[in-house]
Amino acid sequence: MMSLRPIHAAGALALGLLAAGCVSTPGAPADEPAFVVLGEQGRASARLLTRAAACPEIVLDGRATPMRVRVPYGAIPLRPGAPAALAQAPGGAVLACEADLPPGAASASVRGQPLPLPRREARRIVVIGDTGCRLKQPHFQDCEDPDAYPFAQVAAAAAAWKPDLVVHVGDYHYREDPCPAERPGCAGSPWGYGWDAWRADLFAPGAALLRAAPWVMTRGNHESCARAGQGYWRYLDPRPYVPGRDCDLPSRDRTGDHGDPYAVPLGGDAQLIVFDTANTSWRGLPPQDPRRAIYGDAWRRIDLLSRDARYNIGVAHHPLLALGANRDPQTGAVTLFGGDRGLLDAFGDHDPHYLPSGLSMLLSGHVHLWEQVSFSSPHPTQFVSGFSGTAEDTAPLPDAIPPGPARRPARWSSTSVPGSTVSAS
Ligand SMILES: [Fe+2]
Repeated sequence: MMSLRPIHAAGALALGLLAAGCVSTPGAPADEPAFVVLGEQGRASARLLTRAAACPEIVLDGRATPMRVRVPYGAIPLRPGAPAALAQAPGGAVLACEADLPPGAASASVRGQPLPLPRREARRIVVIGDTGCRLKQPHFQDCEDPDAYPFAQVAAAAAAWKPDLVVHVGDYHYREDPCPAERPGCAGSPWGYGWDAWRADLFAPGAALLRAAPWVMTRGNHESCARAGQGYWRYLDPRPYVPGRDCDLPSRDRTGDHGDPYAVPLGGDAQLIVFDTANTSWRGLPPQDPRRAIYGDAWRRIDLLSRDARYNIGVAHHPLLALGANRDPQTGAVTLFGGDRGLLDAFGDHDPHYLPSGLSMLLSGHVHLWEQVSFSSPHPTQFVSGFSGTAEDTAPLPDAIPPGPARRPARWSSTSVPGSTVSAS
């Protein structure tokens, strides 16, 4: 069932966190989605993904102007060196169009469809994450079963709540391998990294919510260059599309796997600071790994951005300060794990508390559960909203963090607790 939990945070800001839902889906023509993405300093970009030969006009406050071509019509190309099986994946071609929405615009529409406009103060914020249907060895969801794959219901329920803003904390694309013949629940699903799989994983089930409010599109590890990064840059990133930064060539992944942090004002002297963590590693980042310096630079940029507002909410796909659990299928023993080790390594170079002191909250996904952790120490509150479509993690978390070194966020990794002493979260 869906739970919307209003949280009074950052003064006037009210935040609703969405975990899961079950409401009927309205008819949603999602073949050619039109939506709005918020980026640096809240700049709004209208997007249309279409099979038409040319971009249509956008009507802004009654005046029609042409949309720009963001990415010419075509299929997403296969990356050199990609697994041979991907050549068999269904592709699909689309033209990506965009237009800047001027601040203060009172109305905008494309092909007669009204577009959601940013509010001066975002008071009703939906946070979702990890929304795709997992088709990847060895785990397969029944994408056609709304109980097994509920994203369309979650999106419809969140849209009915009439949010001012949607924050997606990343991992949109999950359909990486073909549905096995013995799984009728996902039979016929598109797969691979082309438009057809993107449409099935995000734009079709998310249609109602894409129409309801502008979105902040955080990048997840599923959108790294080696996975669905090509679609991320083409369809979702709020900034201009830059050939060479589009993950098409592995030789350019150093550029394509990282985007600079940016701030999205919320009104009321509050802002989101969104940062791209797609290329981190849960195994950690040793000092000689170039990503450690890249994420260190991101830390500095987050710190600078945080000085522009009184209340700062970090948004990153990977939690730094949360707790997850794995259960050994043989013994039933539950092992806890902590925040992303790579980010803790890189951010820990700059601050023993990991995140810049100006951040009071961090919104994340990645771990497929709903969680909120607060600290007596000066760490920000960590929220995890990571099962808005993909399967929920069912290994139980303890009611209380076990005593000992596990009480310190950086030392949560590899903490073992007996399965019999924990209860379902
Ligand atoms: Fe993830």
